[in-house]
Amino acid sequence: MASEFPALKNDLLLRAARGEPVDRVPVWIMRQAGRYLPEFREVRSKHDFFTICQTPELAAEITLQPIQRFDLDAAIIFSDILVIPQALGMTVEMRPGVGPVLPQPLETPADLKKLITPVNVTEQLGYVFKAITLTRQKLAGKVPLIGFSGAPWTLMGYMIEGGGSKTLSKAKAWLYQHPQSSRDLLKLITDVVVDYLIEQAAAGAQLLQVFESNAEYLGPDLFREFALPCIQDISRRVKAGVKAQNLGDIPMTIFAKGAHYALKELADSGYDVMGIDWTVDPVVAREAVAGKKITLQGNFDPCGLYAPPEEIQKRVKIMVEKFGKTAYIANLGHGIYPDMKPEHAEAFINAVHSQ
Ligand code: CP3
Repeated sequence: MASEFPALKNDLLLRAARGEPVDRVPVWIMRQAGRYLPEFREVRSKHDFFTICQTPELAAEITLQPIQRFDLDAAIIFSDILVIPQALGMTVEMRPGVGPVLPQPLETPADLKKLITPVNVTEQLGYVFKAITLTRQKLAGKVPLIGFSGAPWTLMGYMIEGGGSKTLSKAKAWLYQHPQSSRDLLKLITDVVVDYLIEQAAAGAQLLQVFESNAEYLGPDLFREFALPCIQDISRRVKAGVKAQNLGDIPMTIFAKGAHYALKELADSGYDVMGIDWTVDPVVAREAVAGKKITLQGNFDPCGLYAPPEEIQKRVKIMVEKFGKTAYIANLGHGIYPDMKPEHAEAFINAVHSQ
C-alpha cells in the first residue's frame, strides 16, 4: 500500500499531470533506461532481455540507472509491452539487432483458441508487480514511478505480425477481413491490460502510461472503430478499479504515436495526460484540446538529440514556449535511440530545467 513507501520528495510530474502549478517543468525520457547507457549494456551483456524483466532486482537496478545519472523527474519501470502476449501464452524472444520476435504469430481467427484466457495477472505477471514494489522502495521517494502497458491495437499488431513491421499489413488485413475476430482479440487483450494496470497501481506505480505506438498505421476511421474504444475502456475500468481498491489518485497518460488525426477524441478518452509525437506542433495540439482539462506530454524529436548541446538548448526553449509551462510534461516524441550519447540526453534534461 502507498503509505508503506517513503514519502515523495519530487511531485512535479504528478502535479503537472493534474494540471496544478509547478515551479519547474518536469521531464523524463521514453526508453530512458536502455542501450544508450553503458551501465545498461553492462547488465544486458550478462542477461537475456526478458530474464531482466522477470528478475525484480535486475529490473529495479536498471530502472534506477538513469535516475542516478540525470536530474529526471520520474522513473519508468523497466519492462516491455510484450509481456502481455507472453502472459497470453505466446513465445516472445528479444533478438539482438532484430528486436522482438514472436515465432508463432496468430495467423487466422482460429488461432485465438491457442491463447490462454482468462489471464490471472498475479500469476503470470507477478514479477512486474514485485519489480514495481521493490523499485518504489529503492527510489526512496526521490521521484515518482511510472507503470505502463501497451494498448490493445499495438499489442494485436505484434501478435499477428510476429514482430515489428513496416506496414502492419497482416494485422490491418484482420481489421478489414475479420472485424468480429479482431474485436474479440482486442477485447481479450483489453481485459488483461485493465487488470495489469490496476495491479501495477496496487504494487506502487504512481502514474500509468498506455503506449499505442502503432496508431500511425491506422487512419481516423480504423482508429475510431477499433483502437479508440479499447483506449476509452481501459481508462474507465482502470480508474474504477483503482478507486474500488482505494489506491488514491493515479493519473493516466495515453501516448498514441502518429494519432495526429485523433487529438480531440484522445483528449476526451478519460486520461489526464496526452503524449504527442514530434510531428505535431505543440501549438496545434494545445488548440485541439482548448477548454479540456488535459496535460500534454512530449514532443522533442528523438533525432533532435543528435544536435550539439547548444542547439538542443535552443530547440528545447522553443518547445517549452510553445507548450507553456503548466499542464505540461517534457519528453521526447518517442523513445531515445540506442546510439545517443548520454551527454545529449543530459543536455535535454538540463535544458528543460533551465526554462
Ligand atoms: O522507457 C523505459 O525506459 C522503460 C522500458 C521500456 C522498454 N520497452 C524497454 C526495452 C518501455 C516503456 C518499452 C515499451 C515498448 N516496447 C514499446 C512502446 C514504446 C515505443 O517505443 O513505441 C514497444 C513498441 C515495445 C516493443 C519493443 N521492445 C521493441 C519494438 C523493441 C526493439 C526496439 C529496440 O529498441 O531494439 C523492444 C526492445 C526493448 N524494450 C529494449 C529496451 C531497453 C532493447 C532490447 C535490448 O536490450 O536488446
